[in-house]
Amino acid sequence: MLSKKQAKWFFMGGTAVTFLIFIGLTVFSLSKAQDQSHSDQLSASAIRGKYIWEKNNCMGCHTIMGEGAYYAPELTNVVERRDDAFIKAVLMSTTPWQPRHRKMVAYGMSEQDANDVLAFFKWISNINLNGFEKVDNTVSPLAKDKMSKN
Ligand code: HEC
Repeated sequence: MLSKKQAKWFFMGGTAVTFLIFIGLTVFSLSKAQDQSHSDQLSASAIRGKYIWEKNNCMGCHTIMGEGAYYAPELTNVVERRDDAFIKAVLMSTTPWQPRHRKMVAYGMSEQDANDVLAFFKWISNINLNGFEKVDNTVSPLAKDKMSKN
């Protein structure tokens, strides 16, 4: 059994050690060498694309890195499965894009806006995802459930 004094020092020592580990890991995580986002490669076009992404609430239906809604396909690596012309056609379409029977909003974007969103997707796809890219992202998780039941 620890005496009251020993217990107190055990508590203080344990707290100090875990606190130092916490600070150390925080500094490590935030250090430049750990930057997985390549934020220095963000072009003006990609930044405009991100702005369009947020302004139109694309996340209301899509996810990027798992964040967003599960109605529509994951878009983190969309540039790897679709070519530039395909993505631009989806964004510039004036009728809802829906080959798989869920409707994408018909944004009818200008070529410039579509190029900016494309630049944003390209930047996203270059982020080091720590293996997340291995997930099958071609359909939304909800749609996948439906497909396996049928
Ligand atoms: C109302 C829901 C909704 C919103 C909001 C939405 N989308 Fe979509 N989007 C969809 C659906 C559903 C599909 C899949 C259509 C299909 O394949 O049948 C899709 C498809 C796409 C695709 C093609 C993906 C692929 O793999 O075929 C891209 C790229 C895309 N959307 C980008 C965007 C962007 C950028 C925005 C915001 C500016 C946006 N979407 C907003 C529903 C939405």
